[in-house]
Amino acid sequence: MKRAVCPGSFDPITFGHLDIIKRASNHFDQIFVAVLENRTKSSLFTVAKRIEMIRETVADLPNVIVDSWSGLLVDYCKGNSITTIVKGLRAVTDFDYELQMAQLNLQASGVETMLMATAPAYSFLSSSIVRELAHYGGDVSSMIPPNVNTAIKLRVGGK
Ligand code: PNS
Repeated sequence: MKRAVCPGSFDPITFGHLDIIKRASNHFDQIFVAVLENRTKSSLFTVAKRIEMIRETVADLPNVIVDSWSGLLVDYCKGNSITTIVKGLRAVTDFDYELQMAQLNLQASGVETMLMATAPAYSFLSSSIVRELAHYGGDVSSMIPPNVNTAIKLRVGGK
């Protein structure tokens, strides 16, 4: 069984993430969407809430499993017999970081990384842009699934 992981902070999941997850799910038997803590970022949603929102969003994708992990990504891969990491590449600005992570993870464990070109419609999109816009009352409904839009309005409205 060919298994891959789409890792990320997903704080929150965007249409850009969803596009990568859907396209990746066509190429593997199982896709694990793993919510990981990024220690360089402060979070808007708890990991449990992020998982809940992602599960609702991928409910129509039968080979997608949503999970979380608080250690190294390569250890998660090893523990779940995952051979491949799939990440979206939006622009050249993503490249240095993603290349470094891919090479590190390959060297550390032999896990391959496949960088999938983001659909052009989402090349500007990031969770941090969504958080920033939402914080100032901007309309993010074209960037995130409806359940996430509802949750973010409640979250920033209640700050
Ligand atoms: O969505 P993000 O924040 O760009 O995702 C980054 C993430 C969570 C995939 C990355 O920080 C990660 O892999 N964290 C897990 C810890 C790890 O394995 N770090 C790499 C070695 S330093």
